[in-house]
Amino acid sequence: MKYQAPRGTNDMLPQDTANWQYLEDIAKEIFSTYNYQEIRTPIFEQTALFQRGIGEATDIVEKEMYTFEDKGDRSLTLRPEGTASVMRSFLENKIYGQAQPTKYYYMGPMFRYERPQSGRYRQFHQLGVEVLGTDDPAVDAEIIALGMQILERLELDDLEVRLNSVGCPDCRSQYRDKLLDYFKPYLDQLCSDCQDRYERNPLRILDCKEDRDKEFMSDVPKLYEELCNECEDHFAGVQEYLDLLDIDYILDATLVRGLDYYTKTAFEVIYKGLGAQDTVFGGGRYDGLAQEVGGRDIPGVGFAMGMERVLLTVEEQEIDLAIDDSIDLFITTIGEEAKKAAFSYLYQLRQANLKVEMDYLGRSVSGQMKHADRNNAEYSIILGGNELESGVATIKNMKTGDQEEVALDNLVNKMKEYVK
Ligand code: HAM
Repeated sequence: MKYQAPRGTNDMLPQDTANWQYLEDIAKEIFSTYNYQEIRTPIFEQTALFQRGIGEATDIVEKEMYTFEDKGDRSLTLRPEGTASVMRSFLENKIYGQAQPTKYYYMGPMFRYERPQSGRYRQFHQLGVEVLGTDDPAVDAEIIALGMQILERLELDDLEVRLNSVGCPDCRSQYRDKLLDYFKPYLDQLCSDCQDRYERNPLRILDCKEDRDKEFMSDVPKLYEELCNECEDHFAGVQEYLDLLDIDYILDATLVRGLDYYTKTAFEVIYKGLGAQDTVFGGGRYDGLAQEVGGRDIPGVGFAMGMERVLLTVEEQEIDLAIDDSIDLFITTIGEEAKKAAFSYLYQLRQANLKVEMDYLGRSVSGQMKHADRNNAEYSIILGGNELESGVATIKNMKTGDQEEVALDNLVNKMKEYVK
């Protein structure tokens, strides 16, 4: 019998996980400089949290959730995203009682039943931030800056920040009427999904990926030109703060995002070289979400970045992450006694935080040397009967070929000197 990983999931082997760890480390460093703290929420939640939080009429809730009943007949869902869970946790743990704002970050797997393709998987990974307890437009700009800083640290180019405001329920309902009027003459020419959206969620027509529907978008009224005063001021504020940081952005009136909780700011950062799935990170403000899932008025803003998409961009742009996979020392052994001695030297070296290795397959001396090379050893040393007897061995620098004799008693100190 042959088993395969489920469709839309990926094994990450060590050659991949090195890049993942590199990205995680950079992100954590940057989260820390922006003073964000980590939150970890469960991988599954009550289904109703996502239905209410993300919205019943979204693709995620309608088509993409991994929902199951547990043995206690509870309907649970593998998290398709992080925002609803973070808000649930914030409310449940009464974090609103503490000094605000609350600045969280998270990283981890998310699950959506989507048609897999490059950059789109059923289990994928997001790193994200959520700032709760303030509606200051400076924070909207701060999180965009933070996300861009992660990508810039990876030396990624050609990223485009797309910015929109989807307003509040007030300005949106007026805009909705305008949209209905606008699309009415074309209704029977729109794709069948959009005909359905026209009835249920007309804003989502703007997000349609069908080319023939795009033809009708050219003169579509722009929501950011129809905002109420409060939303207009907020949107101007976000732009002013982005300008202050010299972050370029493109206003995009058709950017509505796939989740219903957004209010005011919505944004996406795109790398076109990724093809159909080109959004590297996306997010926005969700001042109504806390009301929706907990009956409290708590503003929030955040983004999530697709980690697979970041690493695909790294690959696409041929960026060498310069990951150091070398080891400090490989000990080649001749004979059983030398192996035992090496084994205890390795232990001492590892206790001194050195990265060291030996052979466990009984290879010949030349086989062990090759293995030292495969392990990218910086230094190597051969231990045999003579070395054990004299208490002296030769350390070889594998790059330069330089050699130096060392008393075995002093091996740990010598290695510490070399690698510091
Ligand atoms: P989202 O746009 O659904 O937003 O997802 C954010 C990012 O996750 C996408 O831009 C993409 O990079 C990645 N992503 C989404 N689905 C997949 C998939 N099937 N395979 C690979 N990558 C994927 C959210 O999830 C919101 N929670 C973002 C947010 C946080 N808004 C406010 N706070």
